[in-house]
Parts: sequence; C-alpha cells; structure tokens
Amino acid sequence: YIINVNAQQGKKISPYLFGLFFEDINYAADGGLYAEMVQNRSFEYAPADTPQWHSLTSWEYVKQVFSYGSLNIETNNPIHLNNPHYVVLDIQHVGKHATGEYSDIPENKGTPGVGIKNLGYDAMIVKAGEHYDFSMFARQISGKPMSFVVSLQGTDGKILVEDKIIIDSKDWKKYTTTLTASENSDSASLLVLGTSKGKLAIDVVSLFPQNTFKNRKNGLRADLAQLLADMKPAFVRFPGGCLVHGDGTNNMYRWKHTVGPIEQRVEQKNLWGYHQTMGLGYFEYFQFCEDIGAKPVPVLPAAVSCQNSGGTWRIGGTGQQALPMEDMEAYIQEVLDLVEWANGSATSKWGSIRAATGHPEAFNLEFIGIGNEDKITPEFQERFNMITQAVKAKYPEIQLIGTSGPFSDGEDFEKGWAIANKNNLPLVDEHYYKQPEWFLSNLNRYDSYDRKKPGVYLGEYASWGNKLKNAIAEAAYMTTLERNADIVKMASYAPLFAKKNHTQWTTDMIFFDNKEYSLTPNYHVQKMFSTNYGDTYYKNIISTEKDTTLSASCLKDNKTGDIILKMVNTGVESKNMKVNLSKFKNFIPDAEQITLTGDAEAENTLENPTHIVPKNSNTKVSKSFDYIAPPMSLTVIRIKTK
Ligand code: AHR
Repeated sequence: YIINVNAQQGKKISPYLFGLFFEDINYAADGGLYAEMVQNRSFEYAPADTPQWHSLTSWEYVKQVFSYGSLNIETNNPIHLNNPHYVVLDIQHVGKHATGEYSDIPENKGTPGVGIKNLGYDAMIVKAGEHYDFSMFARQISGKPMSFVVSLQGTDGKILVEDKIIIDSKDWKKYTTTLTASENSDSASLLVLGTSKGKLAIDVVSLFPQNTFKNRKNGLRADLAQLLADMKPAFVRFPGGCLVHGDGTNNMYRWKHTVGPIEQRVEQKNLWGYHQTMGLGYFEYFQFCEDIGAKPVPVLPAAVSCQNSGGTWRIGGTGQQALPMEDMEAYIQEVLDLVEWANGSATSKWGSIRAATGHPEAFNLEFIGIGNEDKITPEFQERFNMITQAVKAKYPEIQLIGTSGPFSDGEDFEKGWAIANKNNLPLVDEHYYKQPEWFLSNLNRYDSYDRKKPGVYLGEYASWGNKLKNAIAEAAYMTTLERNADIVKMASYAPLFAKKNHTQWTTDMIFFDNKEYSLTPNYHVQKMFSTNYGDTYYKNIISTEKDTTLSASCLKDNKTGDIILKMVNTGVESKNMKVNLSKFKNFIPDAEQITLTGDAEAENTLENPTHIVPKNSNTKVSKSFDYIAPPMSLTVIRIKTK
C-alpha cells in the first residue's frame, strides 16, 4: 500500500559531497593502480629515490648458454632529454646449446643470448590466455639488424610465452608485440634476450595487460579501478597530498611533466621514498574521472614546498622552499594553462595537446586546489595570492580550493582560512587524522560554521585504524557531514590505497598486492554513503533520544524519489531509534536495507578479506516505526516512492 502524507521542505545540500582522494603513496600508482608491470621501465631509478636504487633496480643482466657481452647505462643520445638514461647492450658472443653429457648443466639451458630481465614490482602476475602488450624503444648501434626473443618466464625460467623481434632501426623506434600467457604464474618475469651479435640501445621497456580498466591503453589495473568506480564517487582529488608540494622546489608535482607520450614524461623521486614514472599522469587522471563519472579535482602546488623540505619526511629539514619571484610569472602561466588544457577548444594551444592525446572534447574542469597542507608563511601567502588572483581574473568560473594545514585547528589552520576568506575563495581544504573518540566528540563541528564564509572541502580525514570501530566512528561523523552538507561541500577519506610490504601510511582504505585486495570496513562505510546520497537533508526524521552513541541522517534523492535513512550505533549494545516518515508522500513500505556490523575490533586482511562485509536485506517501513540498531553498526535503509 502507499502512504500519502504532506511533504515538507528539506535543506538543499551539496551535489558532490562524497568523493575520493588519490595520492601516489604506499605504491598506489606505480606498482598499484597504474597497470604497468615493468618496474623501472625507463632506467630512471636513482639513489635520490631511495639510497640503494639505481638505473638497473629491478633488472637483471642475463647471459645464457655461454654467451657474453657487456651492458652499460648511457645518456648521450636518449629518446628525449626528459628521459636521459638507457641501456646499451653489446653482444659479443652468442653461445651454442651443448649436447650430450653437457646439456643438463644449468648454464647450457634456455635460448643462447644476452639480455635483460625485469622482475616487476615484486614479480609479475600473469594469467593463462590473457594478452599482454609488450613494447620497447630500441636503436641499432652496430649497423646490422639484431634478433631478440621476448618472453614471459615463470618459476625456474619456464617459458610461458615468447616471440621474436628484429631491431633494425638506427634511430629510436618503438617495437611491439602481444604475448599470450600459456599458464598462470604469480612469479613471472619479462626477459628481453638478444640472440645475435651486435650493439644496440634499449629504453622504455613496457608490459601492460590488455585487460585494463575500460581497456584503456596506458591504463589502470581493472580490479582496483573497478573498486573505485563501484563507489560512484562524485569527484576524485589527485595527485596528492604531500606529493603535490614535494620536499623541495625541484620535487613539486608539475602537471606539464606528466602529459604527452610516456617516453617524454619527467620522472622524479616520490617524496614517500620511491619513484614516480608519471605514467599515471594528468591525462590518465582526467580520463579515469570521466570514465567513472567523477569530477576531476587536481591540486597544484602553491609554489612552495613542504615545510619539512631538505630532511627526511616528517623528521624535519631545512624548511619550506619557495619558487623565486622571477619564476612566478611562468608558474602562474602553468596553472592557467591547465585550465586551457582541460577545457580549451581542440584548436587552442593547450587544448590541441589534449586533443592530440585522443580527447578533443573538453574535460569540464570545475575545481582546482591550490596548495596542500602548506605552512602559511609570508612566502606562501604572497604566492598563493598571486596564483588565485590570476585564476580568478582569467577563469572566474573555476572553483578554487584553499588549504588550511594538516590539523583540525591551530595557527596554520586559522591563517589558511583567513587567506581564503580574504581572497573570497569558494572552498577551503581541511585535513585531520584522529582517534575514533575525537570524531565521536566532534559531531557538532560543522553545525556552527559560518554559512557566509567559504565552504569546506574535507579533503583528508580518517580515524587512526582500519577496525570496524574506526569505520563506525567515521560513519557517525559522516552523518554530520550530510547534516552540514550545505557548508561542507566535499569530503574524501585518506589515504586510498596501500600495497602490501610498501606501505608508508598504515591507516588506508584499500589494501592490495599484485593479485588481490582487501576492502577495509572504512571502504564499506565510504561506499555505503557515496552510493546512497541525495540532494536534500531532512531533520528530525530519526530520533536518537539524545543518546550520544547514536547518529542518524535522512536524505532524499529527488532524481529517483528515494528516501535514504542512515543509522549509526557506535555503542556495544543494540539501541532503538524511532523513525517518523510522516513528512514524506507516497513511499513504498518494502524497502532495501544494508547493514554493516560486527565486533568492534574486527578487521579485514588480505588473508581474510571478507570478515566484515555489509549485508543486504529487505525490510518493511511504515509512517512511524522503530529500528533496533545492532551494536557497532551502520544501517542504510533505502525507501522508494511512487
Ligand atoms: O594522506 C597522507 C598524507 O597526509 C598526505 O599526503 C598529506 O596531505 C597528509 O599529511
């Protein structure tokens, strides 16, 4: 039956509250979401990344069956000045298979030749029947064509697939082939083996599964990208985080270094202690946003670096570095050029560069963050003012996001807000990582924010931990973000990804290795909110009886007509909540329910990834009903209307 009652107006809320924050931390990009399987494909690893790294990290020099030659790293005639290092192989002798009693000696096995083998990021995972796109740039030096065998090898060098290529060009040329694995392997490697004498240069050796997300070339790992798509995020903020401002002016993230052919991108040290190939660059970020229907939110440096620059991350250094004033005109132009690159016509200077990459249509960039958690020094303020004023003058339609430091309050927080107010920016980025108890004692934080001031983008937040109790504390807090979503316009949990054995930040949303992933309870909470959002907030629908362990919110999505109830119990006992739907017209009593509940200390791991998962069920609602919220739970009830 259908209940008809008078509707009352709710509060209009932000259309894009829940999104994602992606940073290349914890091997989130290279070795993670970015599907490239070859590690150090361009031989650009260096001790600056991490002291023991060099041009041949993750590579082995291979000489099979009494073959010999030499391998050198050279820089005098690279594919591009942005990509200086490459391998020169001089193959002086290719042996012959031994026969008879000598043929069982390990050195006699395999195809005779000299080459290089890539070990991937902790080895490569290959699947039987799947196709892999191999490519490499090569240049003949000794004047005659050279034959190569490219193979995927499993354990003990077992050949899973191989193909031949002939290197015949005297200039750098891209050689490609497709490899189809004959069987599964979790410990595969890629061997590029020269099987004839001669000398040549090799660079940008690459291997991608054809099965990337949406089958994009230079694409993303399909399973991990799908997890993000499943969340239906309203936006994606990228590429960081501290990664953006870098730990010195030389290490800032410069968007122009990350677009164009991969062999021309400027690789650099990742301040989290590894290396960025920039293979996942601005084009790929924007393309991914478009593919999943999320607004792109790039963050650009405010022309200053981290206050800990020059030292080990977070252990102090010589201090913030600022771009010299004489470089600011060019830097501001770089910021302005991003808008033209993203939104300009295909005939504009920068729009044509986007179009040449295969995207003539504009990307519809609406937001740009300026700065990340910077110390609000006079140097910062001067540069921040210059950048924001230039963007506002040329592109008043762009919503600029200011920055307010790493804490929920304090000196930089106040100063960051003050400068954003002064510049009349639409949004300010707040960040805080706290204990779950902090979230539960700050459920009123945004109730008193001045609605005449800039809106809030809660760009990074998490309670310390990935146990259910952390996720449920965040869920309680998120109901208050919905309640205040007239002033809190956007929010994103952080960090997003963490790779097993390569984690610099221990509380994260998704843990993964080369093969599998584990979704934290925090992921499930984020997804339950982002896939059950609306456009209007209604107060006084769910009574929590002033019990501080209970939180709730009620939204309506006027596109679908659905009423969405969220009920959170952070306590250890079941609690009753009273729901009064008499404000709503024409709702259908048969509703869908999703419940996440369990032991407060429970968590998911790669070994047991489904210990804590949301359960779907059907329920019946009426004009007025009681809901018994299980201990430590988030419940979403979605009610259809006619
Ligand atoms: O999310 C991890 C880090 O936390 C981000 O890089 C930085 O913005 C914050 O300090």
